[in-house]
Amino acid sequence: MIERVKKYLEEVNSFSSTDALTIEKFRVSYSGKKGILATLFAAFREVPVEEKKAFGQELNVLKNAVSEKIKELQSQLKSTGGKSSISDPTRTPFPIQTGNRHPLSVVKNRIIDIFTQIGFTISEGPEIEDDWHNFTALNLPEHHPARDMQDTFFIQTDPDILLRTHTSSVQVRYMEKNQPPIRTISPGRVFRNEAISSRAHCIFHQIEGLYIAKDVSFSDLKQTLRYFTESLFGNSKIRLRPSYFPFTEPSAEVDIYWGLETEVDYRITKGTGWLEIMGCGMVDPNVLKNCGIDPDEYSGFAFGMGIERIAMLIYQISDIRLFFENDVRFLKQFKGTL
Ligand code: PHE
Repeated sequence: MIERVKKYLEEVNSFSSTDALTIEKFRVSYSGKKGILATLFAAFREVPVEEKKAFGQELNVLKNAVSEKIKELQSQLKSTGGKSSISDPTRTPFPIQTGNRHPLSVVKNRIIDIFTQIGFTISEGPEIEDDWHNFTALNLPEHHPARDMQDTFFIQTDPDILLRTHTSSVQVRYMEKNQPPIRTISPGRVFRNEAISSRAHCIFHQIEGLYIAKDVSFSDLKQTLRYFTESLFGNSKIRLRPSYFPFTEPSAEVDIYWGLETEVDYRITKGTGWLEIMGCGMVDPNVLKNCGIDPDEYSGFAFGMGIERIAMLIYQISDIRLFFENDVRFLKQFKGTL
């Protein structure tokens, strides 16, 4: 028995390799769960009492030799980079490391896909806006108290020029140039001067939608929202809660049923099980008039959502700031599409 241990010891001492796989195989064959050491230690129990001491000592020598050997080989491997050290600078750089889209883009693209499938076009507009397109045309005349709903960044001293607070401004521009039927969504960056908490973020992203045609009703809005939430979140329950926006009448807030199974569910839904995901409503006739569309002939609905909020729900992200820190360890987790 002792002879066998001695043979193993010789084998261990003379073993050498620079190949990671061979080293790993060696490690498993000796120190794996069913490896040589484990078998020998099991056999140790059967050894007659008078031989136990000598056998035990030899066994310990072997055990130490194995762990020394593995340590030595692994540190050697590290210093050579795991391969026979490549130092040829003319070597081709392929394969290149591919990157991936930002999670906000992944979610934005998915939302765009869902709406383009039912005939919506994509429209874009400027981030620096004038008062008319961001406020006045949207039924928010000067001094309207609801302007405070969206704290605004003004450009220098000109109160007429500002950073858009929502992409509804794009829809105004679109209506000014196009007559119904209109089906368009406007994704883009928006800005709000929010100092409420350290978690508030002054820049975020929205997608707003607009549908104007003859005889568009609230039930069309509801069906469109159901189609959207089911496409994005799978089979899901939504509810519409009465709300107020100056540009829509009636207006509603859309909640999605999140459930109340975990403590986190309780926290993020404030104990209700429901989560608000967007605002919506029937476009106010005044807005249509302001944009050159006859409200007696046409009607429509509009909706708007924050992409960060949706992305946080989908990926269970608890802090909005992660989207803007550009930490590659965070960003790398979002390979692929939704
Ligand atoms: N513009 C609103 C916002 O930014 C969202 C919205 C759009 C609400 C369209 C109703 C209709 O909060």
